[in-house]
Amino acid sequence: MAIPSNINPEKVPNHVAIIMDGNGRWAKSQGQDRIYGHLSGVRSVRESLEAARELGVKYLTLYAFSTENWNRPKEEVAALMDLLVKTIVGEIDELDANGVRLEAIGDLEHLPESCKKELQGGIERTKNNQEITLILALSYSSRWEIIEAIKGMINSGVKAEEVNEELIHNYLSTHDFPDPELMIRTSGEQRISNFLLWQLAYSELYFTDTFWPEFRKNDFFEAIAEFQSRERRFGKTSEQIILKDK
Ligand code: IPE
Ligand code: IPE
Ligand code: MG
Repeated sequence: MAIPSNINPEKVPNHVAIIMDGNGRWAKSQGQDRIYGHLSGVRSVRESLEAARELGVKYLTLYAFSTENWNRPKEEVAALMDLLVKTIVGEIDELDANGVRLEAIGDLEHLPESCKKELQGGIERTKNNQEITLILALSYSSRWEIIEAIKGMINSGVKAEEVNEELIHNYLSTHDFPDPELMIRTSGEQRISNFLLWQLAYSELYFTDTFWPEFRKNDFFEAIAEFQSRERRFGKTSEQIILKDK
């Protein structure tokens, strides 16, 4: 699929983050159970990654499982963990062949052993790839991450006068990645759900009614086109931004 003409290849965001939502509602609309929705969402992951690669997006973060998702029925949690393992096993050759570097953020210690093993193996195997970094947020919540960062700072004896934005960035689990310029959420919900609270401070937010299992490359391109149509002012005036662009 060619890149649509309404996308400016010079202004593609470096980092896109996605809250992949609506698997359960989509499955219900198909007369299926929630697990079927999760299984069907794997294609959307593939398509989004492909679209991101084609555009030259360098980081794609996917919110795959939140800290709060541990509170779902245990059968659903088990199915999601199983899906995670199977997806990594099934996709890792292609990811590696396509230059994808796999990364993960979150409370990974809480994942089942099989997940940790496949995840660590995939991360290790792809660590030198440079096309795009795919970051899976797993057992992740932003408040958990911020608490961990504060503990890390205290344990390292950081002094109050040393605390600034850069230092906090260095203690977050995303310290190796730039902040996302764009955050996409599918399924019509318009909330952050404990995702990247610090990192999204100045991101453009894009909400679409499309359920995650129906999200395709074209939907990704549409989000990028919408992102490019926005004026990012960072507190300045519109006149200042226009002058700078000239
Ligand atoms: C997103 O879809 C996947 C995860 C949160 C793991 P949901 O499972 O939240 O689907 P809905 O929101 O109930 O439709
Ligand atoms: C957010 O979706 C978490 C993931 C997509 C992994 P949820 O469906 O869990 O969010 P809430 O609970 O509706 O806010
Ligand atoms: Mg949901």
